[in-house]
Amino acid sequence: MKVLHIGGTGFLGSHIVRKLIQRNHDLTLITRDPDREMPFDKSKVRFIKGDVLQFDKLEISGKFDVLVYTAMVPFRPGRISNKKFRDLECITRQYFQNTIELARKLSCPLILTSGASFETKGNEVADETWPIARKGMAALGTCYDEMISDIKTRNSIPLIEMLPAQIYGKGGMFTKMISMAKNGKVVLLGRGDNYLPRIHVEDCADAYVLAIEKLPIGKRFIICDDESVCVKDFMLYLAKIFNAGKVVKIPGFILRLVTGKHVFCTLTMNTKVSNELIRKELGWGPNYPSYREGLRSLIE
Ligand SMILES: NC(=O)c1ccc[n+]([C@@H]2O[C@H](COP(=O)([O-])OP(=O)(O)OC[C@H]3O[C@@H](n4cnc5c(N)ncnc54)[C@H](OP(=O)(O)O)[C@@H]3O)[C@@H](O)[C@H]2O)c1
Repeated sequence: MKVLHIGGTGFLGSHIVRKLIQRNHDLTLITRDPDREMPFDKSKVRFIKGDVLQFDKLEISGKFDVLVYTAMVPFRPGRISNKKFRDLECITRQYFQNTIELARKLSCPLILTSGASFETKGNEVADETWPIARKGMAALGTCYDEMISDIKTRNSIPLIEMLPAQIYGKGGMFTKMISMAKNGKVVLLGRGDNYLPRIHVEDCADAYVLAIEKLPIGKRFIICDDESVCVKDFMLYLAKIFNAGKVVKIPGFILRLVTGKHVFCTLTMNTKVSNELIRKELGWGPNYPSYREGLRSLIE
């Protein structure tokens, strides 16, 4: 298939790209910096130098079977003030708006990425029919919900929505956590008794490959593994398998001070979700059914 990908150079994106190359798809990546080193064979893909924020300057010719969006608004870890949050909100809106506009111009299906942000209590398990909980950093995507609703009302573009859980694996910010664990230290943010769904990056990328090849237009998929785990158990298991003797606990009130209310809310939200729909519709299943197999796969 002819795939145009925004975000193909990122953590999740580069895993998708590697799999698409293996499966001989014809790939074009939009990136701000095509000259840098990339974690895949650059000779197997075409690059278009471009910025989502300046798509009016983009020169794209030819037809594509699908446009895939796995880009992320860049922000550094740390405190997100209300002002910073408002700025990020504006940029997020432009990222989604410009991507949707590009799909419209190219008249091709769009695979859009948001996140599995659902607020559940006790044994509740959210599925795709639940409203996305726009709390904490997920509130940046409130504009996303408006745009999706508009696309559906007008039937303006063929759309598939991907809602990954917290992605872990080789690459991205997770590399830092692994290297800290290897150096003997793991940091537990807050009490850690809240549940946050997880997905190994390889399994997540497999889900995208299936969505690209099957194009199940109109569907929204949560991508998570089979076992709910609370933050504390995930971090303690990470410490255990990398023999990290030191678990640094950052109390909730300090965490809130250091990160600000938006990040704090994201880190402490309780979420249990189901992968039943993507299993049924795409025949997808995780090779790492729980964080235990997934984290063990990262030991070299
Ligand atoms: N990581 C997670 O745990 C997680 C969980 C749920 C959902 N998600 C979603 O999954 C997607 C991928 O996440 P990730 O962690 O893989 O993100 P990431 O590594 O931070 O992705 C960065 C990518 O975004 C591209 N990008 C950023 N700004 C751009 C711009 N102005 N113009 C063009 N490209 C731009 C970068 O391209 P260049 O630098 O090459 O230009 C790069 O390919 C995101 O939509 C994220 O919201 C992630």
